[in-house]
Amino acid sequence: MIIVATGAVSAATAALKFGINYGQIANNLPQPTQVSGLLQSLNVNRVKLYDADPAVLTAFSGTGVEFIVSNGDLNNLSDARSALAWVSQHVQPFLPSTRITCVVVGNEVLAPGGDPAAMQSLLPAMQAVHQAVADLGLGAQVSVSTAHSADVLAASYPPSSGAFREDLAPYVRPVLDFLAQAGSPFLLNAYPFFAYKASPATVSLPYVLFEPNPGVVDPATNLTYDNMLYAQIDAVYAAMNAVGHADIAVKISETGWPSKGDEDEVGATVQNAALYNGNLMKRIATGQGTPLKPDVPVDVFVFALFNEDMKPGPASERNYGLFYPNGTPVYNLGFDGASFSRSPTSTFSSSSRPTVRKKVPTAY
Ligand SMILES: *[C@@H]1O[C@H](CO)[C@@H](O)[C@H](O)[C@H]1NC(C)=O
Ligand SMILES: *[C@@H]1O[C@H](CO)[C@@H](O)[C@H](O)[C@H]1NC(C)=O
Repeated sequence: MIIVATGAVSAATAALKFGINYGQIANNLPQPTQVSGLLQSLNVNRVKLYDADPAVLTAFSGTGVEFIVSNGDLNNLSDARSALAWVSQHVQPFLPSTRITCVVVGNEVLAPGGDPAAMQSLLPAMQAVHQAVADLGLGAQVSVSTAHSADVLAASYPPSSGAFREDLAPYVRPVLDFLAQAGSPFLLNAYPFFAYKASPATVSLPYVLFEPNPGVVDPATNLTYDNMLYAQIDAVYAAMNAVGHADIAVKISETGWPSKGDEDEVGATVQNAALYNGNLMKRIATGQGTPLKPDVPVDVFVFALFNEDMKPGPASERNYGLFYPNGTPVYNLGFDGASFSRSPTSTFSSSSRPTVRKKVPTAY
């Protein structure tokens, strides 16, 4: 049974997007058809998948829900024939009845101390997938990008000082050239939670939670920032601008806040998670941009729809979800009583496992 969210809440969530992880990080997630119903009841119209599960893509056929799919197998994708095989098996068959609009090639591949072989193969893999998409005549519908952690930045505060790490520049610059040429967005996974967890004594909780606060002024631009997420987005714009790319849009491919954590994970509470995701949702619904780009609505994917009981790492990793796997809300986000039943058997295969969020904050 699906209890449909109230009208007012539906409007506020219409622009929200969620990440769903099936497969190896949870063994008890609901059936794709049930998830499809839940998302539609919440008016969620865009979803990011951490793989390209055919069961999920099929379940959303004809729903109009927009999908970002992912593949992290860079070795395989770097080969033109393999890339073509993957796109023709995992993307093409579902179009146009399932709306797949973007392929994310690799998640947080470019990172300090990252695997040099993987960092080297990222661009060729993106290029091969892009070529495959074009060869299959899907270029107008499907863009190709990759998702970055905030670790690609050496500086992010104040936002105008945003700069990419020098050691990653040889990899980042050609990727930016590719994104600009392909008209693809720069995707950022951003977790203000990590900044707060690392320095709870110095980072303002209202500032990271979108709660009322005086804000901070960027002395170089005089722009006032009242939240860390928008500051991080503008830091990426500044970093791209500094290397000659004013021509790429920034989108948040992951953000979220855990409702529970280990003892040393300060700030991981139900109250903070509800404030972060609820306030973010209200902001997104206004269509407001960042201080630097006030006319460009912020595009955000919330991580995650469900808690993921098998995810490794600290307790917070298993508690980013808005819902328990059985469909009951972890906290009240304003979705009045939204819930649904789940079938006892629900297992899905997955070809990729997203990385554990382990980033050290680079912002304020
Ligand atoms: C590469 O990807 C293709 C398409 O998904 C698949 O058929 C093939 O088995 C993969 N090859 C390897 C070595 O993983
Ligand atoms: C910022 O504001 C100060 C004080 O009003 C002014 O002197 C300065 O020129 C401004 N800087 C910019 C970049 O607008």
